[in-house]
Amino acid sequence: MSILNGKHIVLGICGGIAAYKSVSLLRLLIKAGAEVQVVITPAGKEFITPVTLSALSQKPVVSEFFTANTGEWHSHVDLGLWADCMVIAPATASTLGKMAHGIADNMLVTTYLSAKSPVFIAPAMDLDMMRHPSTQTNLALLASYGNHIIEPGSGFLASGLEGKGRMEEPENIVKYLEDFFSKAQDLAGHHVLITAGPTYEKIDPVRFIGNYSSGKMGYALAEECASRGAKVTLVSGPVSIKAVNPAITTVHVESAREMLEECRKVFPETDIAIMCAAVADYAPATCSDRKIKREHDDVPVITLVKNPDIAATLGAEKNDSQILVGFALETDNETVNAEQKLYKKNLDMIVLNSMRDNGAGFGVDTNKVSIFKRDSDPMDFPLKTKAQVATDIIDEIVKSL
Ligand code: PMT
Repeated sequence: MSILNGKHIVLGICGGIAAYKSVSLLRLLIKAGAEVQVVITPAGKEFITPVTLSALSQKPVVSEFFTANTGEWHSHVDLGLWADCMVIAPATASTLGKMAHGIADNMLVTTYLSAKSPVFIAPAMDLDMMRHPSTQTNLALLASYGNHIIEPGSGFLASGLEGKGRMEEPENIVKYLEDFFSKAQDLAGHHVLITAGPTYEKIDPVRFIGNYSSGKMGYALAEECASRGAKVTLVSGPVSIKAVNPAITTVHVESAREMLEECRKVFPETDIAIMCAAVADYAPATCSDRKIKREHDDVPVITLVKNPDIAATLGAEKNDSQILVGFALETDNETVNAEQKLYKKNLDMIVLNSMRDNGAGFGVDTNKVSIFKRDSDPMDFPLKTKAQVATDIIDEIVKSL
């Protein structure tokens, strides 16, 4: 029996030629035992008729906010609460833009904004629309809100051109959902500690030593763990992003010492700890309580002291049942340095990312990693979104539980 049996699924259909594939997707979901409510945009109805969709789903298709002749109100809030997940397939460039910016001018977008469940987005459009910076920015925004993007495939497009933009095949979308739900609870009952972002080490009230970490990798790990049922404590340096999943408790810190203190408070209760923060190795020995002025003739000398190593401290304190994972951000001698850190900090696993790889490391939405464990050969992964990298990392951790 499919894990989708009995699941409540809202299937959102937008106005694109790939809407014809939504019929197969709907049939497959029904066959898997899911209860499906179709919500279609006005443009979607130009491509596929509600009659076909309601016959297959055995439910009236929802498109407008109310039925014109009776005034019956269709509650997007109720639908959003009813759903175990929402799948938008195909998602057009226009709907992606509306979803990313909260433009709730149709039933599909209002339902999306009310949905408390995981949302899966399968874009479909012409290749130039797909690679346009507006579309890419909207997709990145939607992914940063915790939505799951089911990447389109490449091939022959309705325009006659060939390239990336074909909606993922219905069978693969169903498989994606089944995979999601079958591992959805594999971290249930586990408490995960994650560090993310940079640390700021104060020089004076207006200056600090810091680095370029955006927190994206650490926050993606936190969302992945929470979506798989874990309780997550995210100890975060100063970043401009927010955690979405309510199972994540974010503890905001600034310096390495504060980060260590907060980690040590929760570490004894956690069974997995992932050190993704870019912790400053050094801090000024003293912090001036007033702004250091440039009028002085001599250039100020800032004496640095070593910061505590948070990963190594937890490595020394961990017990046999705890899994401690570190990251290594390198510019050279990547493998040697990563392996040294694995043993020196008493880690169970280390994730290497190199500043030499395009699209990897600080700030970007993608990463390219290799995973080193004590008992197996290193595993190299291709460039992926940070959300997908988080899935790969957590899949490896789960194997060690
Ligand atoms: O935040 P993003 O913009 O998404 O970027 C993600 C990232 C590049 C910051 C992330 O993928 C990453 O590599 N984080 C670790 C960065 C780092 O500090 O690496 P390191 O090789 O210097 O440190 C090795 C390990 O020791 C890390 O797990 C680090 O968290 C930990 N450490 C380091 C120094 C210190 N004083 N205490 C620590 O715990």
